[in-house]
Formats: sequence, C-alpha cells, structure tokens
Amino acid sequence: MDPPAMDPNVLSSRSRIAILGAGSVGSSIALCLILNPVASEVILVDPKVELRDAQVKDLGDATTYHGAVGGGGVKIRSGTHKDAGQCDVIVISAGAKQRHGESRTDLLGRNLHILRSAINDMKPFREDAVILIVANPVDVLTYFARKFSGLPEGQVLGSGTFLDSARLRGILAEKLDVDAGSVDGYVLGEHGETQMVAWSCVTIGAVPLEQCLLPNTVLDRKAIAKETREKAGKIIQAKGATAYGIGALTGSICKSILFDQRNVRPISHWIEEMECCLSLPVVLGRKGVLRTLRMPLNEEEQASLAESASALRGFISDAEK
Ligand code: LAC
Repeated sequence: MDPPAMDPNVLSSRSRIAILGAGSVGSSIALCLILNPVASEVILVDPKVELRDAQVKDLGDATTYHGAVGGGGVKIRSGTHKDAGQCDVIVISAGAKQRHGESRTDLLGRNLHILRSAINDMKPFREDAVILIVANPVDVLTYFARKFSGLPEGQVLGSGTFLDSARLRGILAEKLDVDAGSVDGYVLGEHGETQMVAWSCVTIGAVPLEQCLLPNTVLDRKAIAKETREKAGKIIQAKGATAYGIGALTGSICKSILFDQRNVRPISHWIEEMECCLSLPVVLGRKGVLRTLRMPLNEEEQASLAESASALRGFISDAEK
C-alpha cells in the first residue's frame, strides 16, 4: 500500500516542535499542530510522565486517518527536556494556570521556578532554536527565558497580546458586521491588566474605524477594551481554563516561524528602550522576531504603553529580589 499523502510543507520542513507542559494548553497546541501540520514531529515533555504518555496516546489517535480529520503525517511522541533543547521551536506552556479571581501575575513565583529549571534541563540549546513562551505571566517569563537561555534576543518570544488582538478583532467584527480577517487592530503592551488598544491605528480594510461604523451606532471603546481584557477571566470562571484560542494561535505562530512567513503579529519580545518584554507588532520568521514595527500611536496611547512597560519592569524587579 502506498504511504499516506503528506502535506508538502511538512515533507520539506522536517522540523520538530517541542511542547513543555502536557496539560490542557499544551495538548490543545499539540492537537492544532496535528490538524494543521507545520512540523514533521511534535514532542511532548512533562515531568508527569503518566499524563504525558496518555496525552501522546490520545493525540496519536488523531494522527492515524490522514485527511479524514484534517492534517496528516505528523508524528507525536513523548520526550525529555534534552530532546526539547534540540527542537526548532520550543513552546513552553508548563506551569500553574490561573484560577478564578487570580491575575496572571499571581502565577509568577511558581512559574518562574518551573521555567528556570526547564531551561537548565534543556541546555545546551540547538543554535537556531526559537523559544516561544505561552505560560503566564507571559511577558515576565519571556524576559527571564531570554536571560536564562542565553539565546539571541529575537529567538525568545512570547504569545503576548496576539490572543487579545484576536479577541478585539472578533468583537469589532461582530459590531461592524464584517469578517474578523478584515479588521486590522492591535492590543499592545502586557498580556494582562495593563494592556492597551491602539485605537488610533484600527482600520477595516485599510479604512479608519470611524468611517466604518454602521448608521446610528456609537462604538464604546472603553467597554470594548474591557470586554477584550476580561474575556479570559470570564472563560476561566465558567470552565476553569482557556485552551483552544491559545492552542490555535500558538500553532499559527509556529507556522510563521517554521515556514519563515514574515507575518506581522503582536508578540511579546525584548524592547531595549523599555527594558522589558511586551507586545508590539513584529515580523515573524525562522529566526523568530526579525524586527519590531513602530505604530504611529497618539500621545495618550504612548502614555498607556509606557505605563504598561513600567508595570512590567516592576514585576521583573520584584522577581529579581
Ligand atoms: C488567555 C491566557 C492564555 O488569555 O492567558 O486565554
């Protein structure tokens, strides 16, 4: 019998993605990478070996009937931290997750400890490895991952406000009755309480937002920003965690990197003059963050972004004590 057809991109890429953390977020990311393949192998790493191996078995079932459930050709297996250090992309979702009423920064102590030992266990890294932090607080952990790993700064990034921007686009799309793919809007700064919407730069198919409102409608920007910021909390309150949104978007970041797509995405990364990691739009490619794009923010937005950076520097310096 002929071998099953494989996605030509997968065949040519022969790349490997490691996912640290086999919980609901890690396994959702893995499922997205199986259904929408961007690497030939996905390796799941978790000190809870029973959970890890059970997730691999369950996910393995999703890889068998190529084409029947989408994707095809991806091998999923259990691995060690040392294996992960040799992968093209290393997604770090390991750590405690937010409980109802907790903020992302409440997780810092626990998750920083987990991050430090995971990075030590993965060393030495493959030279061109890209570390993608997904665990929270993502911006602060991205800062420390860069410090602990010693990898070039563009190769250490965090999912940041990519998810918040997707949420914003979804809300605006509904209010304006357009497809979300035609909304170009960004949430910047911290993936957390101090995030801000770059309202002055929101466009719908290149047309400024103000000119796209439906007749007799007023857009309550404050309420939309709040709804965007609080969406994760609402999901956590009802079902205990968020997983599918971050799973799908992390899969898409892996694709941008491994296929060297040069997509522009709001991604958390080191910003020299702000002395912290936060999200600004970047060009993503095989070397991670290729460059940062500077949005023409108005004065008020610049001040909000500076406040977000200052809050993040505060979390970093508390953690460094
Ligand atoms: C969220 C988690 C990933 O916002 O922080 O869904």
